[in-house]
Amino acid sequence: MHPIEIKPNVYWVGAVDWTTRDFHGYSTYRGTTYNAYLIMDEKITLFDTVKKDKKGELLHRIRNIVEPEKIDYLVVNHVEMDHSGCLPEIMEIVKPEKLFCSTMGRKTLLDHFHREDWPYEVVKPGQDLSLGSKTIQFIETRMLHWPDSMFSYVKEDKLLISSDAFGQHFASSERFDDEVNLNDLMYQAAKYYANILYLYSPLVSKLIASVQEMGLEIDMIAPDHGVIWRDPGRIINAYSEWSSHKARKKALVIYDTMWHSTEMMAKAVADGIQDEGVSVDLLDLTVNHRSEIMASVLDAKAIVLGSPTLNNGLLPRMAGFLMYMRGLKPANKIGAAFGSYGWSGEAVKLMNKVMEEMKFEIVDPGVRVKYVPSHENLKECVELGRRVGKAVTEAV
Ligand code: FEO
Repeated sequence: MHPIEIKPNVYWVGAVDWTTRDFHGYSTYRGTTYNAYLIMDEKITLFDTVKKDKKGELLHRIRNIVEPEKIDYLVVNHVEMDHSGCLPEIMEIVKPEKLFCSTMGRKTLLDHFHREDWPYEVVKPGQDLSLGSKTIQFIETRMLHWPDSMFSYVKEDKLLISSDAFGQHFASSERFDDEVNLNDLMYQAAKYYANILYLYSPLVSKLIASVQEMGLEIDMIAPDHGVIWRDPGRIINAYSEWSSHKARKKALVIYDTMWHSTEMMAKAVADGIQDEGVSVDLLDLTVNHRSEIMASVLDAKAIVLGSPTLNNGLLPRMAGFLMYMRGLKPANKIGAAFGSYGWSGEAVKLMNKVMEEMKFEIVDPGVRVKYVPSHENLKECVELGRRVGKAVTEAV
């Protein structure tokens, strides 16, 4: 195995996880990687580590370049366990002279590992660190996506080691963006944004503006997941667009169904949306994972929700999806709801309430149908779809 040199004397030493399929509720059907980077300079420096069970792979890749005991500095850009799970064992082996982290990084490391004796060196935002021939500038990125998060910028190489930002849960034998299928890559990058960073969109916009103000030249972005961007402009532009909540002329009909009545209604609503020349995806929650749906929510203008009433509430898959979507804070959406019921029929009201809390523009009170829709009921659903379609066309 040849060492993977991404810039002169900068190596990728991470681990590829081909088998993980769940990442705290996010479906990682393409696996992921945990990236770590090693700079060989007067001060040999390791940036981040990997998930606990991938320690062997990290050490193997480091040993192909240098004995781990020779590492002088460790930089912890982010404490979440997928990047620090094996930190205690790596600290025992490496015994670094210094462990660099943000102010919140130190606190978070203490809360995780309870080791007061580690050689913490808290860095200030914008602070420089010379490794010999290379200089690291630390950039605080608090809440992108944890309080401790920061970037490390290698000035001489114009290389941004960006922690979780710009990542993708995407396992591959290739390490660079121009070596993989671009459509697959951009889909995984969008899905990652929608499920990890969406709620921090205002901070993402601010960060992009401040990096531009700083005049930081970026030739390469090396995130902690997925492939490395040799075309950083592509992913920065995508982040600009996603964080501005720019939407296409597209609607989603997301539903769950008990005895197919709500499904019949969903199809009629979708027909109405399509009648208005708006693209529509019909997403049954029983066969579409919530994290895939969120990737579609990212650039959809309208979200139409369907659920029958169960025990005076929603079907559990819809309740779970709403909880998940609300936490990710999509903005500037048009909303509407529909559903069948037997006797009480609260589902439509409940879905509208959550969408109102999310500040969606509710364009219709919604359609409720008792038990099984008649032809007339389905026509009402088509009309609901048309109202949504018209609203999308006016808004986009
Ligand atoms: Fe990839 Fe926030 O950890």
